[in-house]
Amino acid sequence: MKVDVVLGLQWGDEGKGKIVDVLTPKYDVVARFQGGPNAGHSLEFGGNKYVLNTIPSGIFHEHCINIIGNGVVVDPVQLKKEIEKAETTGVDIRKNLYISEKAHVILPTHRLVDAASEAKKGVHKVGSTLRGISPTYQDKIGRSGMRIGDLIGQNFMSKYNTAVANHKILLDSLGFEYNLADHEPAFFEAVEFLKGFKIVNTEYYVNQLITDGKRVLAEGAQGTLLDIDFGSYPFVTSSNTITGGACSGLGIAPQKINKVFGIFKAYCTRVGNGPFPTEQENETGELLRKLGHEFGATTGRPRRTGWLDLPTLKYAIMLNGVTDLICTKSDVLSGFEEVMLCDSYSINGKITDELPFNLLDAEVTPQYKAFKGWSGNLSSMRTYNELPETFRTYMDFVESKIGVPVNMISVGPDREETIAK
Ligand code: IMP
Repeated sequence: MKVDVVLGLQWGDEGKGKIVDVLTPKYDVVARFQGGPNAGHSLEFGGNKYVLNTIPSGIFHEHCINIIGNGVVVDPVQLKKEIEKAETTGVDIRKNLYISEKAHVILPTHRLVDAASEAKKGVHKVGSTLRGISPTYQDKIGRSGMRIGDLIGQNFMSKYNTAVANHKILLDSLGFEYNLADHEPAFFEAVEFLKGFKIVNTEYYVNQLITDGKRVLAEGAQGTLLDIDFGSYPFVTSSNTITGGACSGLGIAPQKINKVFGIFKAYCTRVGNGPFPTEQENETGELLRKLGHEFGATTGRPRRTGWLDLPTLKYAIMLNGVTDLICTKSDVLSGFEEVMLCDSYSINGKITDELPFNLLDAEVTPQYKAFKGWSGNLSSMRTYNELPETFRTYMDFVESKIGVPVNMISVGPDREETIAK
């Protein structure tokens, strides 16, 4: 038995939560491999909407084991809130959730350091979600982080105090005002709460599940263009969001990876700062934002919007070894008279579909191809052939340019609004 991976091919917010939820009936296990509560995976079923930040998106399926892997960073306060909310639906989280003892912990001071660093950067800020992600991964790489296993260990308080002392020096040097007493009670309460959950060596557990023939789906967060190595650095997140991250973030050997489901929106969005070649800072962009409800699931920030960008999509497919493409939010483009697609870039007068070293500094002019738009309520359609011919022409062009099949099309947020191709 092998592991399939599902991840985003753009700047996050591709609709991963919904797709994982749709795929989950075929799997016994869903395992998150990176990121933390900077993610907001939205799921809709039975007329209700749920947003998951740290809990894997398989949690609402009773048969499914959900694993928070070692590559994830966990904020106990956020996770407690999330668990309590999800429990109101009647799902037995205590039974089905496993947390890696090696996942790193986001401390209240990590969140403060995130806010202080972003404030210091002024106009050059990354536009972080301020969830403490970067400072926590910095401590992990700097070998001074705290892990979930430390929360139940004997030296918890001394490790906590050492970490906090270091963060205080940093906060003071940044001239940041804060009152830790506002944050600590909720943190310690959440630590106690998490002790009631299964904190295990998930790398052994997941490999045993694979050996036992269980079907495992590894769930990514954010998107390929936010990857720490290959994204639009420094406007990225602090983890490896690509398929390789599933190996290091769960302890799965590369040859165990089978299918890679790559999710992309029929257009592009980005939240936070950084380069975005096909961005539409005009009425078209406004309309995309309005029709697509493009506001961050975690922060509520308006997302930047633009046309589909094939050079970045091809790059993401190459890095991830995508075997199956899934297109989301196709319904949002319904009603546009003309739909544009960026086929290649002109960089210093040269046509290319290769990404330059620094997208921000390069003079990139997207080369667009115009497609006749489509209309009608795509959300009510359930088969590929029902979809407007003009939409299929657009999708066929994407497929032909990319050479990977689009196997699923999402036409709305609900589980049911999904078309297998
Ligand atoms: P951080 O991961 O909170 O440090 O934020 C770094 C950058 O990644 C910012 O531009 C964020 O807006 C962006 N980002 C982080 N998580 C997500 C996500 O789940 N969806 C979309 N953008 C994200």
